[in-house]
Amino acid sequence: MYNIKQEYPHGFLFPRPSFTFVILAKLKRVHRQKQRVIKKKNNIISEDIDPTAADRKQDHISLAGVSQIGFSDPRFFYEPMLSGHPQDELEPVSFLGKTLKAPIWISSMTGGTELARKINHNLALACAEFGIGMGLGSCRSLLYSNERIADFDFRKVVGPHLPFYGNIGIAQLEELQESKETERLQELVEKLQIDGMIIHVNPLQEWLQPEGDRIKRAPVDSITELLDQVEFPVIVKEVGQGMGPESIAALLRLPLTAIDFAAHGGTNFAKVELLRSQEEVQDTYPQIAPLGHSATQMVDFVNTMLDRLGEAAICKQIIISGGVKDFLDGYYLMNMLNCSSIYGQGYPFLIRAKESYEALRQYLDSQIEGLKLAKAFLHINEQQA
Ligand SMILES: Cc1cc2nc3c(=O)[nH]c(=O)nc-3n(C[C@H](O)[C@H](O)[C@H](O)COP(=O)(O)O)c2cc1C
Repeated sequence: MYNIKQEYPHGFLFPRPSFTFVILAKLKRVHRQKQRVIKKKNNIISEDIDPTAADRKQDHISLAGVSQIGFSDPRFFYEPMLSGHPQDELEPVSFLGKTLKAPIWISSMTGGTELARKINHNLALACAEFGIGMGLGSCRSLLYSNERIADFDFRKVVGPHLPFYGNIGIAQLEELQESKETERLQELVEKLQIDGMIIHVNPLQEWLQPEGDRIKRAPVDSITELLDQVEFPVIVKEVGQGMGPESIAALLRLPLTAIDFAAHGGTNFAKVELLRSQEEVQDTYPQIAPLGHSATQMVDFVNTMLDRLGEAAICKQIIISGGVKDFLDGYYLMNMLNCSSIYGQGYPFLIRAKESYEALRQYLDSQIEGLKLAKAFLHINEQQA
């Protein structure tokens, strides 16, 4: 039974002790700062070598009680004795034939609307400022028309030295191959001055999407055929469901430039499409969205398959993405993977890029600072895996 006292043991005004302490500490701090300004104006205090010390000490006393914690992330050994605070930039990373300033990838998301144009513009600005790479959302609308090209046309913003990729679905690739029009992809690469194409393979999403396509061939066959037909680099990804070990093995055998996980655990397009579909579809397929593989599982699959395939593994670059929540996940997973990798995020970038460039900028800045901190003080606990 619902017990209001249990929910709000400290009364409605102070629903959680931690919240109350934080607010009170903030109010006190503002008050003390005001007093300090008045005293300084009246020459009551001289210049202090540690002007925030008193406030800080006061905060420490107020906040210590709510900072009691019982969980330590078992993925890492914390090693405080072996490094100073990070002073330098991250080491540049060679990936997709270019040099990135940070091992971060902006996952393929959008294009084709006014809002998408703003989002892509902000994402492209972030690539340029932070020296990272990006995939565009599906460029299907550009295969037969240039009407919406301005939503995608950001090579000049990204600059020539960073990876910038186009994107189409496996169903469109199959159609182009059927109608012997694969050269349209080459035209797209030239039109957008992109480095290559990402093919997204999303059979569950298409199945559940009310206006979804049906694919007739095994995606790995269409992709193998594409690799024989074109010269530009090709990356293959899912869209948030990830993939199992045999699919990973099939892709590792191909001369792909990279595999982008788009793993399960973050944005889930099966769920998105279920929410858009009719009641009977929703009733039949609720158990589809939970299917798939997390990025952690997929790292394991790749390591196992690289061992098993040996020389037969040709593709050796991985974008670890899908449900990667932050720099700590990215740092851990890159360290666990036994081949060249960077990590990617979709939704966390989308919401900031939609809000403003400043919001996106602050987020990326904090993630890169976090990565530096992790590199300085966290070692990987491999036993944990
Ligand atoms: C709004 C939105 C649109 C997306 N559109 C595409 C797309 O057109 N092509 C594609 O390959 N993936 C698309 N994705 C999937 C992302 O690339 C990514 O794989 C997925 O969001 C999982 O990453 P996340 O958990 O970090 O969001 C889209 C994701 C979002 C959030």
